[in-house]
Amino acid sequence: MPLPDPADSSQNASARALRVLVLGGTGFIGRHAVAALHASGTQVSIGSRHPERHESNYPFAVLRLARFEQLLHPDAWAPLLKDVDVVVNCVGILRQRPNESYDDVHHRAPAALAVACAGAGIKLIHTSALALHEGAQSRFLSSKLLGEYAIEASGGDYAIVRPSLLDGEGGFGARWLRGLSRSPIQFIPRGARGGIAAMAATDLGQAFAALAALPSLASHREVELGGTRRYGYAEYLRELRADYTGTRALQIPLPNWAARLGAHVCDALHFSPFSYGHWILLQRDNMPSPNRLPELLGREPLPIRSPGAPTIRRRPGAVHAGKIGPHDLPDTPAG
Ligand SMILES: NC(=O)c1ccc[n+]([C@@H]2O[C@H](COP(=O)([O-])OP(=O)(O)OC[C@H]3O[C@@H](n4cnc5c(N)ncnc54)[C@H](OP(=O)(O)O)[C@@H]3O)[C@@H](O)[C@H]2O)c1
Repeated sequence: MPLPDPADSSQNASARALRVLVLGGTGFIGRHAVAALHASGTQVSIGSRHPERHESNYPFAVLRLARFEQLLHPDAWAPLLKDVDVVVNCVGILRQRPNESYDDVHHRAPAALAVACAGAGIKLIHTSALALHEGAQSRFLSSKLLGEYAIEASGGDYAIVRPSLLDGEGGFGARWLRGLSRSPIQFIPRGARGGIAAMAATDLGQAFAALAALPSLASHREVELGGTRRYGYAEYLRELRADYTGTRALQIPLPNWAARLGAHVCDALHFSPFSYGHWILLQRDNMPSPNRLPELLGREPLPIRSPGAPTIRRRPGAVHAGKIGPHDLPDTPAG
């Protein structure tokens, strides 16, 4: 049988739609990635631990079984990577579960995936986080850093995407922060001094679609993304609250030991998105450097705001006490 002509197959490849596998495509970030990729004409497939549960939500996509704890060797990935040009990995766990360790989900499975992608000539776009650093006393954070190192060592064509805090519909953390912002009394850990470049999850989805469409990821090995504004944690809650209620909350400083204890209790009880790893991150800057979001979107990032509420634009010098005042100009809602 004659061998296929490589020239023919590359012509076919350029004629057909890009085939992208989104791992964790049913999660908060993954859903936004899937939506943007589908809208751009990409042929999307989704990796999930429970494909049967999600099939009806994604009539345009093929769902494939993907359990990271069972995908720790490059060979194990081969069936999932069949007929795929690009993989977008949006899988992550906030807390470990039986048989699902941070090391397996954030490090060893992505390491095996990266080797498998490198061997098959598949591009890999991996979701990580800002402010990861050596020596962090959190297995949540250190496993993510080890995952990054393994992908860098794979020799493949990859991009490691580090988004800032995300706001948007359906996010566990986003929902909690919106809820906290509505509380009239808010406890603000004294050490939560890091800057946050909060961004809209819809923008992250579009950034993934832009990256997936690139012929090579060589100039996008480390992609840090965020909104254009630098918030402190207290200020971020104030801004969300202003959008929701137009009033100010009483913000009470919380000693660092109490914040740390609270984070450990939340971890032990699997309660809320506040974990010890996030307490460490809150104390550091979570600012993208450089911020490649405007370049990938070809426009300014969307502002952070509650759905349907007018964006509040402050006149220079406006002073706030209580209700939103006459110096605040409502913008027409965007998008
Ligand atoms: N949310 C943020 O603000 C933010 C900001 C920066 C970075 N990140 C990082 O981005 C990643 C995703 O965040 P997210 O907010 O989208 O989380 P999420 O909503 O919990 O989604 C994660 C997805 O991963 C999949 N998953 C979980 N365990 C798995 C396993 N053992 N094997 C295979 N798939 C598994 C799940 O899909 P199935 O249930 O379908 O299996 C889940 O929907 C995390 O690593 C997070 O740290 C998040």
